[in-house]
Amino acid sequence: MQTVVLTAHPALETSTVNRQWFDALSQIDGVTTRDLTAVGGAEMRFDPIAEQTVLQAADRVVLQFPFYWYSSPPVLKAWLDQVLLPGFAYGPGGDKMHGKELGVAVSTGGPAESYAASGMNSFPMQVFLSPFEQTAKMLGMRYLPPFVLHSAMSRDPAQVPDSVPAVVNYVTTPLSIAA
Ligand SMILES: Cc1cc2nc3c(=O)[nH]c(=O)nc-3n(C[C@H](O)[C@H](O)[C@H](O)COP(=O)(O)O)c2cc1C
Repeated sequence: MQTVVLTAHPALETSTVNRQWFDALSQIDGVTTRDLTAVGGAEMRFDPIAEQTVLQAADRVVLQFPFYWYSSPPVLKAWLDQVLLPGFAYGPGGDKMHGKELGVAVSTGGPAESYAASGMNSFPMQVFLSPFEQTAKMLGMRYLPPFVLHSAMSRDPAQVPDSVPAVVNYVTTPLSIAA
């Protein structure tokens, strides 16, 4: 299985969680990581043909990011807008992502219990992540249950490495084994 991880963090060098995930995933055979901030530069400009070529070689695409204002950092939105074009992702001839898998690996500052109707953030993560779920559906992709690490900021930094094997497992385990 070939997997592409699209990492959307505005400054990986200042990251605690996503940097460690990115570094570990970058070491794995069959996994290609892309730091979208490095690829797109300050203006967040992407070459759609180059990005689409990377996607076409993948069986699974994983979006990896810190949760910012109940969504992803803007570089991922820029990438989606510039790469998922008609004739590739949707519309006539736009079947190039059909049959692939889409996963999401996200870290949040808020604790797990805050993402509930009774909690500070009012809604479960499934609701906040529904644009990605619907994007997968629109593209004919299979949406994987998201991987979420909560309490990313309050966590003892020494414990962050504990999340690395879990995210590696999420990214690399085929559905037939994970099910
Ligand atoms: C601009 C900004 C917005 C954020 N918005 C949220 C949010 O809506 N919900 C939440 O739980 N955490 C939020 N956080 C906390 C981040 O999710 C947290 O710092 C991040 O997951 C840590 O990952 P990192 O170490 O890779 O940067 C926000 C942080 C920043 C800087």
